[in-house]
Amino acid sequence: MATVTKLFDERRIAQRVEALAAEIAKSLPRELVLVVVLKGALVFAADLMRALDRAGLILRVDFLRLSSYGHAKQSSGVVRPVGPLPEDVAGRDVLVVDDIVDTGRSLVAARSVLLARGAATVSTCVLLDKPSRREVEVEPDFVGFTIGDVFVVGYGIDFAEQHRHLPYIGTID
Ligand code: IMP
Ligand code: MG
Repeated sequence: MATVTKLFDERRIAQRVEALAAEIAKSLPRELVLVVVLKGALVFAADLMRALDRAGLILRVDFLRLSSYGHAKQSSGVVRPVGPLPEDVAGRDVLVVDDIVDTGRSLVAARSVLLARGAATVSTCVLLDKPSRREVEVEPDFVGFTIGDVFVVGYGIDFAEQHRHLPYIGTID
């Protein structure tokens, strides 16, 4: 059995999400389309959108699913959109919400999908950044926590589809 060791508890996450929403409200337009990258950003986005409402923003919400890790801890290196694409982004200011930036390939892929669909601007917000793992040049505009080269689960984030439901973020051995 794999063991999960707590890294960020519920309280710490909630405080950071609230502060992140305030930062976003200060620097982005008041009306945004949140594009939530499935499945990992589900829980983060659910909390972030309500914090953004408290910060006075007016949101639309849509989803983007990217092909990714499958059932391994290593990325295949190729990231492409799968399933339905976000609908109403043409001419709008978009904020991509993802769980983790690792190599950076997913964020780059999300950006290009949205620009190709006519988004006026594309900003990015991730809960966790692993800068030491970057393989392509990309910097998220808003970051919850910066972490080292560790594999994490919980708060929407999985390992082989397990542990998404944990209310905290932990490392897995
Ligand atoms: P990137 O395209 O390499 O930046 O990978 C980003 C995606 O890989 C994230 O959205 C996650 O879905 C997945 N990922 C990266 N690191 C982890 C991790 O530590 N735990 C679980 N999934 C991860
Ligand atoms: Mg992901």
